[in-house]
Parts: sequence; structure tokens; C-alpha cells
Amino acid sequence: MTNFINPKIASVTARAPASIANLGVGFDLLGMSMDQLFDEVKLTKIADKKITIKSIKNLDGQELTKLSKAPEQNTAGKPLIELLEKEKLPFGFEVEIVKGIPLSSGLGGSAASAVASIVAANGFFIEALPVKNLMALALKGEALASGVEHADNVAPCLLGGMVACLRDQQFQSLPVPADFHVLVIYPKQELETKKARAALPAQVAFNHAIENGVNLAGFLIGLYGKNTTLALKHLDDLLVLPYRKGLIDSYEKLERLIENEAGTQLKLHISGAGSTLFVAFNQIEVLQKLKEIISTQLEFSCYLQSGAARGALIVEKREGTL
Ligand code: HSE
Repeated sequence: MTNFINPKIASVTARAPASIANLGVGFDLLGMSMDQLFDEVKLTKIADKKITIKSIKNLDGQELTKLSKAPEQNTAGKPLIELLEKEKLPFGFEVEIVKGIPLSSGLGGSAASAVASIVAANGFFIEALPVKNLMALALKGEALASGVEHADNVAPCLLGGMVACLRDQQFQSLPVPADFHVLVIYPKQELETKKARAALPAQVAFNHAIENGVNLAGFLIGLYGKNTTLALKHLDDLLVLPYRKGLIDSYEKLERLIENEAGTQLKLHISGAGSTLFVAFNQIEVLQKLKEIISTQLEFSCYLQSGAARGALIVEKREGTL
């Protein structure tokens, strides 16, 4: 494999976007990337065949001490350890991580660091690694955060747009109508994915399972038919939301505010494991107004995503020798 390494490359920086996992109706199945928030990972080649995490900073350049710098405990480090072993690379990497995505926010920050890391590593190869290998490696990082290798953040983060994670690590990109607008609301509360998963029941009611099937079918048929109204009508979640909303301090307050401002036409959903919430609608003006109100009245961070966002990409490649 080492034949395919480009010896001229000294460092590569990659950027990977935030994503909204589950999308309300597709627990552990659907995810959608976002344009406005991202993590960045810079890899510099080192002679030692090992991974060293040099820094983990936020966008203001402050060190984030909450995240482990032990590579095997870090979502960006773990995939690189696997890559080094698998591809038998004749060198190692020094890793610099910039976290633009808030920690434990339900915006796929763990996945984004893992994906950015593996996309940057891919930049050292002459012949890019197959996407399925990148996905499998990034999932090793994601699993550190949530305990399971679910791809509903990793897949949209890597591929961009909306993605369905099917059986046997098969991924299907879905059409996102241009008028599918999502207002993402981060209430500045940290919530561990493991805790949010522990809140879920072992079993659900039969009628809820049936209704969820109808909702998922209606949502997907709406997307494929470019019928956003149909998709939105079926964007509902009876399986997860009832058990997780109590973990989000501001859920009820936000639900009331949205109802007062926009009536019952908008439903509040959880992004991934939370605490981030979102509403989707096909009239951008309604969401723009709501964004303004929520940011000023509650001082939550709000992001408006229209249609499909791009996936991870390399932003800088430098040549040099060890
Ligand atoms: N599908 C996962 C969950 C996403 O909701 O637990 C978390 O990253």
C-alpha cells in the first residue's frame, strides 16, 4: 500500500461539517450536513510511526482541555491509529484539531473530527482510499463518543447532503429539495450521546412503530418527489423524542415560544442526541423571523440551512520533507 503514498506531501488540513442526525423521523438512519459549522484537522507527517495529538483548540485558539489528547481516546486520533496499522504507513502523524462544532451538542462534532482526520490522511495518498474505507475508519472514532458505530453523522459529514445509512454499511444520498429549510437551534447545553441513548426504552408501542413507518415512508417519498409539503407533513417522531425531550432544559420553553410565534405549523425536533433542536419548513421567511426572535430573546445560537450542504474537504496541502 505504501507505494501509493505521495512522498512530497508534508501536511494536509481537512474540514468536516456539522450534521443533524436522525432528522426526527429516522433514528440512527438519516443525517444531513450543515454549511455553517465545522471541525478542522491538520495532519503533519512525522518520522515516528505513531499518532501524537499536539493541540485541541476552539475557533478562538483556546485549548479545549475536556477532550483527551490520548490518540486512542480521541475521535480524531482513533481512526488514524487504525489507518496506520491497516495501511502499514512508514510514518506517523502529528495532529492539530480545531473544534468549531460545540462539544456534546448533538451536531455531530465527534463524527466531524473523525471524518476531518481521515479525509486529511487520505490527502497523503496518490490514489485516494475508497469511500467505504474512509467511512469504516471514521466510524471507529465516532464509536468512542457514543459506544456504537452508527453512521448517521459520519455519512452526511463525509458525503454532504442528506444520507440514509442502510444495512451492511451501505449509504444512499437522498435528494434535498431547495425549499427544505432547517432552523437549527443550539441551546448551549452539553448532553452526552451515551446519556441520551440510555434514556431510550427497550421496546416501543406497536401503534407508534406503525406510525413511524408511515412517517418515514411519507418523508422519503416527499423528498424523492420534490414535494416538501408531503415530506414535512410526515416529519414526526413518536419513538425517540418523547423519551429524550426531558433531558433538554429548554425544550418546553422553546416549544411554547415557537407555538406563540408561528402557531402549530412548526414542530420542534431533536438534532441527533441533543441538546440541539431544529424545525424544518418550506417558507424560509418564517424560519428567518423565528431565528431572529430565538437569538435575541433566548440568546441561543441559531443556524439556517437551506437544501443540501457540502461534505468534508481538504482545505490545505503542503509539500515538504520529513
Ligand atoms: N442516532 C444517534 C442518536 C445520533 O440519536 O443517538 C447521535 O450521534
